[in-house]
Amino acid sequence: MKTQICIIGGGPSGLMLSQLLDRKGIETIVLEKHSREYVLGRIRAGVLEHGFAELMREAGCGARMDAEGEIHDGFEISDNGVLRRVDLKRHSGGSSVVVYGQTELTRDLYDARAAAGGHVIHNVEDVVLHDLNTEGKPWVTYRDGDEIVRIDCDYVIGADGFHGVSRKSIPADVLTEYEKLYPFGWLGVLSRTKPVNPELIYAKSDRGFALCSLRSQVLSRYYIQVPLSDKVEDWSDEAFWDELKARLPDEVAARLEAGPSIEKSIAPLRSFVTEPMRWGSLFLAGDAAHIVPPTGARGLNSAASDIYYLYHAMMDHYLKGDDTGLEQYSQKALARVWKAQRFSWWMTSLLHRFPETPGYDQKLQETELAYLFSSDVALASLAENYVGLPF
Ligand code: FAD
Ligand code: DHB
Repeated sequence: MKTQICIIGGGPSGLMLSQLLDRKGIETIVLEKHSREYVLGRIRAGVLEHGFAELMREAGCGARMDAEGEIHDGFEISDNGVLRRVDLKRHSGGSSVVVYGQTELTRDLYDARAAAGGHVIHNVEDVVLHDLNTEGKPWVTYRDGDEIVRIDCDYVIGADGFHGVSRKSIPADVLTEYEKLYPFGWLGVLSRTKPVNPELIYAKSDRGFALCSLRSQVLSRYYIQVPLSDKVEDWSDEAFWDELKARLPDEVAARLEAGPSIEKSIAPLRSFVTEPMRWGSLFLAGDAAHIVPPTGARGLNSAASDIYYLYHAMMDHYLKGDDTGLEQYSQKALARVWKAQRFSWWMTSLLHRFPETPGYDQKLQETELAYLFSSDVALASLAENYVGLPF
């Protein structure tokens, strides 16, 4: 097989880039390790920044998001039972975010690729990238049963997430990896219940962090901070609801509607960046190159800026013969990636309970939160990062 761009990974990053490029007449093939059902079964992001929503529209995939997604102009922070609202719209100069699940937007992208006759090949095994940094063109192989299939292309996009094969195809002496691990994870529950609050609540409490989020007015998503040693099996639904309520203000806990979990999982919290994001004809995008702790809702939104830069760089290359965008990709993408890293680290540090934290550091954390709500400048900084910095 032959194509212009071979995209490894059929998550939101890979599908979005494929869909955008297809509309400009640039050919792609997407190789995805899992089935469509498996990818859609992973419950992940829920909050989209303005720039991501715009890319969905540009990809011709914004109709359902605009009809069913909710615009949120603010969220609440609870500090040991005291609720205060962050008015995103006011403090960001008019911007807001869209609450629309990653599952739904991935479904929209799959449907759009299928409607356009796009090539998204599922259940591929043993993907190997070849000749990424030689004189010749790159090629990719995968196994389909007993058969090895070869794809020849001009460029390879590594959009295969943190555990993918693309980043590992770059020699170790070329890469610098920056990593920070946090001593806790998030236990998440999805339940077919009415959300406890119209807006998200980020809750700091002495028992640990909690987050009340939602997917729609009949689907709630809740998280609690748990030690890394905890297993999902340790947490019955009842234990989860009890612990969540204990971390929320009394009036919120009193109106919380509990119900059976329809998904329950633990995600460890990690910050990670790899540099550079380009090696020869391979370009990394999204979680394949960088991970944030989920607190600031930046993960998918960080992927969006990579896709935006790659989309424009590939258009310039194929439609105008200009390679400046490709040459500057790594540097440009990393500049925004690091700002999302900073914000995610800041919001994680602000709201979580860090085990064995000295009293001095606890006092600083309390002061940071008190300062935030005493200063329009601090609130503006939070708001401009949460709604998304410009691409
Ligand atoms: P992925 O979604 O990981 O997709 C990569 C794809 O590549 C996968 O489908 C995988 O099967 C495939 N793949 C892997 N290896 C191979 C291989 N060898 N060959 C072929 N295919 C392969 N972000 C936000 O912006 N807002 C939020 O509110 C938010 N909440 C989150 C909550 C949780 C609990 C978690 C875990 C994450 C959250 N995120 C959030 C982060 C967000 O989900 C990720 O940043 C996003 O999924 C990244 O998309 P991606 O396409 O780059 O990678
Ligand atoms: C969700 C996840 C987040 O990390 C966040 O900051 C907000 C919402 C969610 O899954 O709904």
